[in-house]
Amino acid sequence: MARKFTQTELGKLAGLSRQAVAEIEGNTGRVSNFLALEKHIPISVTGLPMGARRIGERLRLARISKSLSLRAAAERAEIAVNTVREIEAGRGTLGPLHRLASVLAPAARARAVSEGHNRRGIAVVGWSSERVRRRADHYVTPAPIVRLLLDHEVIDRAHPVLEPAVGEARIIERVLLERGYQVVCSDLHGRGDECRDFFDIHQQHHTVITNPPFRLHQEFIKHAKRIVANKFCFLLPLNYLVGAQRHSDIWSDPGFPLARVHVLTRGIDFVGTDPFADRFKPAQIYCGWFIFERQHRGPPTLHWMDSNPYVERIARTPVR
Ligand SMILES: C[S@@+](CC[C@H](N)C(=O)[O-])C[C@H]1O[C@@H](n2cnc3c(N)ncnc32)[C@H](O)[C@@H]1O
Repeated sequence: MARKFTQTELGKLAGLSRQAVAEIEGNTGRVSNFLALEKHIPISVTGLPMGARRIGERLRLARISKSLSLRAAAERAEIAVNTVREIEAGRGTLGPLHRLASVLAPAARARAVSEGHNRRGIAVVGWSSERVRRRADHYVTPAPIVRLLLDHEVIDRAHPVLEPAVGEARIIERVLLERGYQVVCSDLHGRGDECRDFFDIHQQHHTVITNPPFRLHQEFIKHAKRIVANKFCFLLPLNYLVGAQRHSDIWSDPGFPLARVHVLTRGIDFVGTDPFADRFKPAQIYCGWFIFERQHRGPPTLHWMDSNPYVERIARTPVR
């Protein structure tokens, strides 16, 4: 019969402290502790290549099957090359392991089966798709922010627009369709044919519009420059305009230059806003639409989009 363990009991079983078990459950513990736990409770790992038993080795196989070098995998996961090496060797910590898993095998899950110790009898001791999803920057663009882009920027109607990180709410697609554009969509976490890593798209697209995962913004911009024929529009935080590295790598690249930035006058609360609503909640995340055009010449220009009319008004209760 399935037995439910406390964290302390589970720790004793695997020679770990209760704290170490709690850390593993919070996805912050050490990979070696996770492996120690794995010897004592059955952990089912799905979504990774089967050619090896250990998680690190299976991640290595996933990396090789995607033809990614250690450096390329590290860049995408935004961790150090050495950290990838450590993880593949079964060392390091679970945080970076989750980042690596989220780019190499987004569908991967690790769960303690049948003998978990939480109330439902199943403890998620590894990474779950939910956590991976949050790590993939799943923040939805409010619809008025997309409408503002289409009000200010000319988008060629002769070709379908690619939205390569469409998310679940599919707001950019909805607004484009609402305005009569054709759209092609995909996402790392998409379903069926739409499940595609942006970095695996190699065919040319005339126009790309997306709100990319912010932590991968540089890689997304560099890859878009390879596959976009005409123009791409990315929603990005305005503070990304600073930074010497970004300046030389991205903003000042004359090959496919930044043509203009449409500055949104109000910050956006991506988490608290109902993305389908006509108004969005304000917050101190100040963004703009960054427009890259292959044919643009000269320095980028700044424009302002007045997003104030679309901010949710808070009804104030009169003070008596
Ligand atoms: C900030 S959300 C934006 C979603 C949608 N574009 C919107 O504006 O509402 C970023 C999206 O990027 C997806 N994503 C993360 N990494 C990706 C990758 N390598 N290729 C394609 N999509 C990716 C995530 O699954 C998530 O849906």
